[in-house]
Amino acid sequence: MKILVTGAAGYIGSHTTLLLLEAGHDVVALDNLANSKYESLRRVQEITQKSISFRQIDLLDDFSLDEIFARENFDAVLHFAGLKAVGESFVEPLRYYQNNVAGTLNLVQSMAKHGVYKLVFSSSATVYGASGTVPLVENSPMAAVNPYGRTKIQVEEILGDLSAADPRWSIALLRYFNPAGAHPSGLIGEDPEGAPNNLVPFVAQVAVGQRPRVVVFGADYETDDGTGVRDYIHVMDLAEGHIAALGHLMTSTGAYRWNLGTGRGASVLEVIDEFSKAAGKTIVYEIAPRRQGDVAVSYADPSAARADLGWSAERDLKQMCQDHWRWQRTNPQGY
Ligand code: NAD
Ligand code: WQD
Repeated sequence: MKILVTGAAGYIGSHTTLLLLEAGHDVVALDNLANSKYESLRRVQEITQKSISFRQIDLLDDFSLDEIFARENFDAVLHFAGLKAVGESFVEPLRYYQNNVAGTLNLVQSMAKHGVYKLVFSSSATVYGASGTVPLVENSPMAAVNPYGRTKIQVEEILGDLSAADPRWSIALLRYFNPAGAHPSGLIGEDPEGAPNNLVPFVAQVAVGQRPRVVVFGADYETDDGTGVRDYIHVMDLAEGHIAALGHLMTSTGAYRWNLGTGRGASVLEVIDEFSKAAGKTIVYEIAPRRQGDVAVSYADPSAARADLGWSAERDLKQMCQDHWRWQRTNPQGY
């Protein structure tokens, strides 16, 4: 199949592009490189020995976007492109709504105009806000607590309306829990700009000596060790979930919501401990007050994806830390 991947140079997009190539698909990779480098896709081609057609285009540039659809005959679109920093979304909400919501509107308008009706969208467990009881199931209420999360809810709603109005659409809304890890080659991985917002890349930078210590946001939650619990999912499992969702869309229409998580929670201190074993060194940390907007515990009920897609996460926290560390150790400055 010929697949358009938006946000292909990013963390999850690059790992999924690699699996698409290995599965024999033709990939057109679109990215404006706002939060990534072309080097990730160069390495994907090095690993797979297959070539990608890369287009540096912004989703907000509807003219250029439409030109790609006019030229290529896509079977489906995997849509990763988006801004994802929660804190930044409070400071620049309009940029987030413009990029994530208006960018997606441009994309689906071009798709409809050119008769492409199969779409996989990167949603997030953040749509559950603080409202859900764990494990989170897909019909838990949506209630985001930040502008970034609201962009995900809005896009989910728009895509749901679109599918209800036109039965030709097949749409997968994949709600990722906490992605971490890297391709086992160590050649591609997560390369955050500036100080990482997320726990695992922060711990990795401490382990490699770029930061003095991990700041643990709260040790007074009602959890076993007092620190926050999350469902960390290996990025390769996540990428495999996209291949499974794509397969499902080929034989069905409608909009589907699937959690992509492991169903198991790990605390901040467990992550630090496991990473420290992977890196073979002590990782210094200090306990600080809770971070605003954090919930104590979040993990998925992944049974719908297992039942519908035959997919489940296979890799554990140990492998996630080992693979993340291999990438960080061999690429201390990222790409
Ligand atoms: P990332 O920043 O590494 O990748 C996103 C890519 O999209 C980047 O390469 C960026 O340059 C590109 N992009 C952004 N806006 C664009 C635009 N207007 N036009 C073209 N390209 C654009 O992030 P990621 O971690 O790979 O996340 C991929 C998707 O998954 C995002 O939509 C994100 O919101 C979602 N998601 C991520 C996480 C996570 O923790 N990483 C969790 C849940 C959901
Ligand atoms: C995990 C745990 C923190 C950093 C975020 C987004 C969500 C989704 C995934 C995109 C929490 C603790 C963290 C640190 C810490 N992204 N922590 N010190 O908050 O579950 O989810 O990323 O969709 O939308 O909100 O992930 O990695 O930031 O935090 O103690 O330096 O680690 O308090 O318990 P989170 P995270």
